[in-house]
Amino acid sequence: MQTLNLNGHSMPILGLGTWKSAPGEVYTAVKEAIKIGYRHIDCAAIYGNEKEVGKAIKECIDEGAVTRDELWITSKLWNNMHGENNVVPALEKTLSDLQLDFLDLYLIHWPVAQKKLFVGANKAAHFLSLEEQPIANTWKGMEKAVELGLTKCIGVSNFSVKKIKDLMINSSIKPALNQVELHPYFQQDQLVEYCHSNNIQVMAYSPLGSSDRPDGLKAKDEPVLLEDKSIIELANKVNASVAQTIIAWDIHRGISVIPKSVNPGRLKQNFEAAELKLSEADMATMKQLNKNRRYVDGQFWVVPDGPYTIENLWDE
Ligand code: A2P
Repeated sequence: MQTLNLNGHSMPILGLGTWKSAPGEVYTAVKEAIKIGYRHIDCAAIYGNEKEVGKAIKECIDEGAVTRDELWITSKLWNNMHGENNVVPALEKTLSDLQLDFLDLYLIHWPVAQKKLFVGANKAAHFLSLEEQPIANTWKGMEKAVELGLTKCIGVSNFSVKKIKDLMINSSIKPALNQVELHPYFQQDQLVEYCHSNNIQVMAYSPLGSSDRPDGLKAKDEPVLLEDKSIIELANKVNASVAQTIIAWDIHRGISVIPKSVNPGRLKQNFEAAELKLSEADMATMKQLNKNRRYVDGQFWVVPDGPYTIENLWDE
């Protein structure tokens, strides 16, 4: 399995996504994934399933299927725990749920701050603006987590180039990675180029289009990525599934990819995509499919009289 370098640490390029994996399903999925050979698992406090992920990891380690050092575990700081002094307690809770002593990577989940009391936020009074709760302060807490040995690397998620640039000015530890929505319909060329030329790795979430998102997070006219005719044609040509073709396309771009599945057959299929070779012509075919189409557009952070807008969220 190809690896990516994050500040001298090797991260397997392909991992298992756990967003939308129900607590009852994720335990079996993680155990199965580790058995298949996955060594990288992407988690987050807000997914509400870290205890089950942790139970599966612990059992795999106890059974001798894998060692802690062979695994790469990522988690993410939720919006209501921004602020210098909140980061370490939030990370300690995640570590306790995951039954781990340290993470490999901890990310600021969104450049969006909520008041501590509100895990969910749907009105202006639940939010804090980034002037009230600056990312630079939250980042100081992230740096402290590294100094305390609670995580090897730190990074961000859903950050624009502008927000990364601002953060770089105010940081002593640079972000090692930016996790963003990225798939053939939303290829993110400029962001990837900026990150790669600044030693920041990129990780693709919703790589398969996340068609299992709740209906409230879906647009009515949404194109279904896994039904794309051009990708189906290419997949037939390279003798792979559509999902495998997309995963291989990410890996050929040097982008980490974390397809979510709770199905043993699809977990295996996705893992095997790491070995699929695509030609330059195949990559060129995929490049033409970009529609600049976000599936996770951040509209849920935009409330009447609230501090966040689509424009200031994505800086577009
Ligand atoms: P399932 O968990 O039942 O396998 P994303 O990674 O973009 O969030 O997409 C996850 C969605 O894609 C889930 O609905 C998942 O279903 C489905 N999925 C995962 N792997 C495959 C695959 N190889 N072929 C088709 N659908 C897949």
